[in-house]
Amino acid sequence: MSISIKGLSHYYPNGKRALTDINLEIPSGMFGLLGPNGAGKSTLMRILVTLMEPTEGQIDVCGYDIRTQRKEVRRILGYLPQDFRFFAKYKVREFLEYAAALTGMTNSSERGKAVDAMLEQVGLYEARDRYAQNLSGGMKRRLGIAQALIHKPQILVVDEPTTGLDPEERIRFRNLLSEASSKDTTIILSTHIVGDISSSCTEMAMLNQGQVMFRGSPAGMLKETEGKVWRMQVTNEQYAEINQKYAVISTIPHGLGWDLQVVAKESPGYGAVSYPPNLEHAYVYFTEIRDKE
Ligand SMILES: Nc1ncnc2c1ncn2[C@@H]1O[C@H](COP(=O)(O)OP(=O)(O)O)[C@@H](O)[C@H]1O
Ligand SMILES: [Mg+2]
Repeated sequence: MSISIKGLSHYYPNGKRALTDINLEIPSGMFGLLGPNGAGKSTLMRILVTLMEPTEGQIDVCGYDIRTQRKEVRRILGYLPQDFRFFAKYKVREFLEYAAALTGMTNSSERGKAVDAMLEQVGLYEARDRYAQNLSGGMKRRLGIAQALIHKPQILVVDEPTTGLDPEERIRFRNLLSEASSKDTTIILSTHIVGDISSSCTEMAMLNQGQVMFRGSPAGMLKETEGKVWRMQVTNEQYAEINQKYAVISTIPHGLGWDLQVVAKESPGYGAVSYPPNLEHAYVYFTEIRDKE
């Protein structure tokens, strides 16, 4: 295992409990951390990259303890925070040079070569003389990944990198991550976007309200949602009733009424028939329904 997390809980100084008894084994390759806003994804990532010490628990990163061997952990880690920003004064290539120097690349000609190779890899070589602050959202994210990868880390932690990107840039960004992942590199990608996980990760965990709700593969998550999705055609009045009681996922006009998809443990009635789940249904099942009455 690349990363082993045992009994991890975290409280913020204001008493807010952000993580509760997390136990996770993360293998090498691409690992998806899926969860809604407030689930605790960023908290978990900040702890993993040693920016914050957890209230309780043990974490081992490639054989190093995050509490007692911070320096070693930092050396093998790359991190792209959720709210990554660039200083106004830096151009693209200058910024990456600066980031590379910070990781301890002291030989300037080797550093220059590494920087140019990385700019090629993320598709920013042509943009090397532009001010980083003026890049498009997708290009900024790619420069963010470049600074996280420049020292060839064994573990790469990226926090919600696809939020706010258009579909084309999201796909490009995900492919970039997949290319960087390998049997020797672990990439932990957090997201609230179901499609990011299904199209790039075979291993994943779902986090909600600070707890692990699911650990497995996207296919496994679908499997657990089988028999929990219902489809029915109803009138306006019935729709209003159903909407009060159930998680309605899809609403399409049908004749004078509606064609609905609902996620529920048992058939809601109204002539509902079982419907094959997709990952969006599974996401709703695990965040809103599974552990509730
Ligand atoms: N600095 C902080 N102080 C107090 N509470 C915080 C702080 N940062 C995050 N939280 C709370 O902890 C919970 C988890 O937040 P976070 O880890 O940012 O979730 P996510 O990244 O999944 O959106 C949320 O309820 C959030 O409001
Ligand atoms: Mg976050």
